[in-house]
Amino acid sequence: MAPSRPYYAERGLSAAFYDTVTAADTRLEGDIEVYAGLAPAGGAILELGSGTGRLAFALAERGFTVTGVEIAPAMLAQALAKQADLEPELARRVVFKRGDMTSLDLKRTFDAVICPYFTLAHVPRGMAWRNTFATAARHLKSGDLAAFHLPLPEIMALPGPQNTDLPVLDQPTPSGGRLRLYVRERAFREDVGRLDQIIEYVELDGRGEILRSSLERLTYYHTDPDPLAAPEGLAPDRDPIALGGVGAIHIFRKTV
Ligand SMILES: C[S@@+](CC[C@H](N)C(=O)[O-])C[C@H]1O[C@@H](n2cnc3c(N)ncnc32)[C@H](O)[C@@H]1O
Repeated sequence: MAPSRPYYAERGLSAAFYDTVTAADTRLEGDIEVYAGLAPAGGAILELGSGTGRLAFALAERGFTVTGVEIAPAMLAQALAKQADLEPELARRVVFKRGDMTSLDLKRTFDAVICPYFTLAHVPRGMAWRNTFATAARHLKSGDLAAFHLPLPEIMALPGPQNTDLPVLDQPTPSGGRLRLYVRERAFREDVGRLDQIIEYVELDGRGEILRSSLERLTYYHTDPDPLAAPEGLAPDRDPIALGGVGAIHIFRKTV
């Protein structure tokens, strides 16, 4: 694999342009409605891997209180900057903390725990997944729900683009330029359920001149979540909810 920085690293473009890319991603449409349906009106939601606050703010606007836990400082900083610009009543309904979802213990419970947009797939399957399920269970009361959005394994196994010089995304930037994304490398290992991608982010100015570019490494892991959730007292509550043709939200109920 080419030399690259991890996704969401400091000074990386995947963090800087996270909101630009997700705003263009129709495959996430409908996720907020699923998460909003898991807690009672006005309830408290814990979001594992809250990123730049895309969902935390949307859920707060619907009346929920949200605690977002995020490991990457470059993502957390954007969430906090956006919160500072909110009207106080809305801003008060959201709390962001730096933390690792595989070991988090906030010493309190919530009405629902959510782990959106492939966040669980960012950590190795096996003990890191089981520890994340333990985190979810630790922050729930018996009978309450946790949701984990995972990529579909058949989508992970697809080959990369034949022509790696064709952008997979070409989107206007807030500053009047363009952002282009290229999948430079893509390799799926079925035996370990691991997809490695090198994605190049290229920022152009309004005249088409390159301002910045960055090679970033995105790894997703996949396995059946149910056997890893079961020992932590989380049982599947319903069939996974398909989203955007690329992923599914797995919903578990705490049974103990
Ligand atoms: C694809 S983003 C999702 C952000 C947000 N939940 C959303 O739906 O827009 C995944 C986020 O999970 C964070 N993350 C990855 N591993 C984590 C961990 N072990 N603990 C907490 N956050 C983590 C990443 O830094 C990134 O911000």
